[in-house]
Amino acid sequence: MQYPKKVEISEVGPRDGLQNESALINTKDKLAFIHALADAGCAQIETTSFVKPSAVPQMADAADVMSQLKQDAAVRYIVLTPNQKGLERAIENGAKAVAVFTAASQTFNQKNINATIEESLQNIEQVMSQALQKNIWVRAYISTCFACPYEGEIDPQKVVPIAQRLLDMGAHELSIGDTIGRATPNQVEALLSLLLQFYPIDQIALHFHDTRGTGLANVLTGLQMGIHKYDSSAGGLGGCPYAPGASGNIATEDLLYMLHGMGIETGIDLDKVAEASLHLAKVLGRTLPSRYLQTLQSSC
Ligand code: HMG
Ligand code: MG
Repeated sequence: MQYPKKVEISEVGPRDGLQNESALINTKDKLAFIHALADAGCAQIETTSFVKPSAVPQMADAADVMSQLKQDAAVRYIVLTPNQKGLERAIENGAKAVAVFTAASQTFNQKNINATIEESLQNIEQVMSQALQKNIWVRAYISTCFACPYEGEIDPQKVVPIAQRLLDMGAHELSIGDTIGRATPNQVEALLSLLLQFYPIDQIALHFHDTRGTGLANVLTGLQMGIHKYDSSAGGLGGCPYAPGASGNIATEDLLYMLHGMGIETGIDLDKVAEASLHLAKVLGRTLPSRYLQTLQSSC
């Protein structure tokens, strides 16, 4: 079996992970987490989101996070921008890379960002065109590509035209989300077979939540199909406040353990990521879901 020799990981813990915590985390702890991940070699880190503060209170300190971030030429720091106002706030606070987001399910999109899919695409078109004019790098997410917490299974054919619109608008990278962690490898294969007929493999990233334990199996399917970009979150933190029941992303430690064991390079130091997560676990006062981290604690 042929696998990519190198994989690029987008670390989403500080955003996807921390947005879902019930207790407020102070900005200093968030910054320490982000800087520790950068020091571990994470080259793409989603740091925060400029969404409506009442929609996701954990991200209300986005401006403070961005203004106190140590810039590092080796790291692309990405912030989530849901609309024009989000982009303006991101630019004011020095963002050089943003992520826009929509979904393949109408109901989820409506609950998440109060817009139909079409309205959100029109909104994204404006945001993206302004961002690109300012030389800002843009990632575009499509959530609920496999299943929706409200509508159930999603037909993969629904994802294709949305991907097309986002890539036509000029997105540098498209992240295909299994927001509620329901996909199985055959579904991943079916969707990728469709997408790869039309879109360059270098622009596609996979974003798996691990609610039902199929996350790494889904990554393996992606690897077998040549995909070399994956999202994960340190410690396995995460979830979306508008996707009830969804648990964290695949844990960066578990992903690194698997990839490095398979001889695939990532440029990331697993021990240092684990250290960052263990420190955060102390701040949160609980054990994090990463299986790799748990073996460290049991010294198995
Ligand atoms: P809305 O209420 O429809 O917005 O929310 P609005 O335009 O009607 O404005 C209402 C008020 O919000 C106004 O203030 C605006 O100024 C303010 P007022 O005049 O009443 O004082 N407002 C803002 N304030 C700060 N920053 C902004 C902003 N926008 C409006 N950017 C909106 C629509 C999209 C803003 C809201 O629904 C929202 O912020 N949603 C974000 C939800 C979210 O963050 N979800 C989690 C991230 S997505 C995810 O996790 C999935 C992903 O991981 C992939 C996967 O797993 O599938 C990416
Ligand atoms: Mg997510």
